[in-house]
Amino acid sequence: MSENDMSEIQAPRPMPAPLDRVDGVAKVTGQARYCGDHPSPGLLHAVLVTSTVAAGDIEEMDVGMAQSMPGVHCILTPFNAPRLPEGGRASAGQMPAGRTLTLLQDTTVYYNNQPIGVVVADTLVRALEAARHVRVRYRQRPAVLDFNQARQNAYAPEKAKDEPADTVRGDVEAGLRDAAATVDAVYTTPLQHHNPMEPHATVAAWDGNLLTLYDSTQYVYGVRQTVAKALGIPLETVRVICPYVGGGFGGKGSVWSHVVLAAMAARHTGRAVRLTLERPQMFGEAGARPHTEQRMVLAANADGTLRAVRHASLSSTSFLEDWLEPTAMPTRMLYRSDALETQHRLLKLNMGTPTFMRAPGDASGSFALESALDELAWELGIDPIELRLRNDTAIDLGRGLPFSSRPLRDCFRLGAERFGWSRRALMPGAMRDGDKLVGMGVATATYPAMRQRGSAVVSLLPDGTLWVRSGTQDLGTGTYTMMARVAADAFGLPAHHVRAELGDTQYPEAPISGGSQSVASVAPAVQQAAGAVRDMLIERLVGDPASPLYGAAASDVDIAQGTAYCRSAPHRRETVVEAARRQRAQTLTASATTEPGDEKERYSMHSFGAVFAEVGVDADLGEVRVRRMLGNYAVGRLLSPKTGRSQLYGGLVWGIGFALHERSDIDPQCGRIVNANLAEYHVPVNADVGEIEVLLVNDDDRQFNPLGARGVGEIGIVGAVAAIANAVFHATGRRIRDLPITPDKVLG
Ligand code: MOS
Repeated sequence: MSENDMSEIQAPRPMPAPLDRVDGVAKVTGQARYCGDHPSPGLLHAVLVTSTVAAGDIEEMDVGMAQSMPGVHCILTPFNAPRLPEGGRASAGQMPAGRTLTLLQDTTVYYNNQPIGVVVADTLVRALEAARHVRVRYRQRPAVLDFNQARQNAYAPEKAKDEPADTVRGDVEAGLRDAAATVDAVYTTPLQHHNPMEPHATVAAWDGNLLTLYDSTQYVYGVRQTVAKALGIPLETVRVICPYVGGGFGGKGSVWSHVVLAAMAARHTGRAVRLTLERPQMFGEAGARPHTEQRMVLAANADGTLRAVRHASLSSTSFLEDWLEPTAMPTRMLYRSDALETQHRLLKLNMGTPTFMRAPGDASGSFALESALDELAWELGIDPIELRLRNDTAIDLGRGLPFSSRPLRDCFRLGAERFGWSRRALMPGAMRDGDKLVGMGVATATYPAMRQRGSAVVSLLPDGTLWVRSGTQDLGTGTYTMMARVAADAFGLPAHHVRAELGDTQYPEAPISGGSQSVASVAPAVQQAAGAVRDMLIERLVGDPASPLYGAAASDVDIAQGTAYCRSAPHRRETVVEAARRQRAQTLTASATTEPGDEKERYSMHSFGAVFAEVGVDADLGEVRVRRMLGNYAVGRLLSPKTGRSQLYGGLVWGIGFALHERSDIDPQCGRIVNANLAEYHVPVNADVGEIEVLLVNDDDRQFNPLGARGVGEIGIVGAVAAIANAVFHATGRRIRDLPITPDKVLG
């Protein structure tokens, strides 16, 4: 029996004991210093000047008035900015961090709100004021702003993630013939923008040839690489620090123009420079989730068995890059169907380049897939959960591999029980509560489990503190807490004896905190390094005449709850603190790098969930309220149960925003986003969020990594969107295929 067969019959290990967020006190007391708050001697303030047209060339920038205003140090424009290697494109294409930037190297305008200048002054107010006095003359070109007009120039991207843009399996046309029921419908999702509480912020300071950047980022090593390449300086001369991030959601996974511009401004002025995006500038150079239009065709037998699936998707990108929202990825793996075709197409708009936004592709794509399945269930008169389970599969048919773990059936069964699914009326429009129409909807959630090489270093300090460092990031997601929990458990210490540090390129390298992979990539390295330090300490103690463990066999010594003891003679013991104190001269340090093996060739690895929503719809006003949501997930073991669960709550809340609120509106004349502020770009607030419950099924994915932990950052939003849309159908009998579901559409 192979190792893998063995693990399949092992019982799931329990989750670690929950730990309060270890950085919680620092955050609520204001001790936690976010990047833009970093004090630097002689700090100057930079403000971006951005374009006010969507396409064309800058003919002239008159900075005379702005330059003469009090406190202004310099104004960089395409006409005076220092020249960079390859016109500022030296780092482009090195995803995820290396994007095609606009770094004042030429006068082309690709979109409205594009950075075209930087004003640096001694105070923020003076910089803002001066920036508003820069006069720009453009030669405008006609801009492509309309999705419908642009579709005639749609084209195929090179790839969808690492897979082909289009796939065909079996004969969809044959499947459509003689089907008992078919669905053929178009679903659209709007342009959306990331709106973390903390906007993008960078503090750049040069010391001779050495550049230090405090940058709010999901990827300190990516920032270092991109900035070094863009400026044409050696990698080792750049240090990137990011102890806290006030939300990223994918928008901070790449390096955007302002980061390099801050470094350029600091070098130009010889002073430290802070550049923070204003909220409206978050709707420009820093990514977005593109507008998508997805046509779903489903055909099934009378018993609900899928005969054919076709998912053809069109999404918008910019004139700078071919960035694809890979919407058909979940369709390729989620259900069994003899015939399946998927297709991705792009069209170009004069808008900022889109990027990763929480569950890119899966969140938007599953809205189409899971809505269409709901429509099919209604056509066939089959319960929507039953329909999904009839098409459940142990094999990922897209890749021809078994799933490492797929307890989807448990997610639905236990979730349905807890949610009270059996109380759902069969007919839409049949449930009422006072003057509200009530509806219940359901959808499947899924998100790929990803893991990369990750490193950590762990030291036992003379005061008994276990000091853990990794060049990873905590976006508010709980990485600090996870590191403390994993190190404490691997060593045998209470977690409050651990000090975790991250977000610094001086710490060992870790991947981007994106794709829900920080825990999966970093936890094994932390576990291994902490375990190595523990073994080193035990070796020391059994050889140390001053220790009660002197002379014991190392294999007979264990450490638990901060005490080292002999298993065969437990009275021989001493605390780690006492033991560490004697190691004063030589602190114990070990580092570890762990990486995935060949499991990706043998398994398809995904997390799963069943999401339930109950809505109340005001039949007169068309207002939709989410009364209850429940998600039951299989995400492997949660290594930081409190913060991990909190990610799932957050994902469900974002599902409400995706389904009901969020939409960036483009001015069709000038291409500016007209609701570029938090008053008009609507995200859910507490009043929009009803009862939410998150459940976890027993899952321990040993095929995926030694800790059995997949990621939880993104799956929470997947499925939530369709569950709400399906509940609106169930409440009202109206199928709304165009998000967000606003009152005009409910009444229309
Ligand atoms: Mo996530 S959208 O990969 O940060």
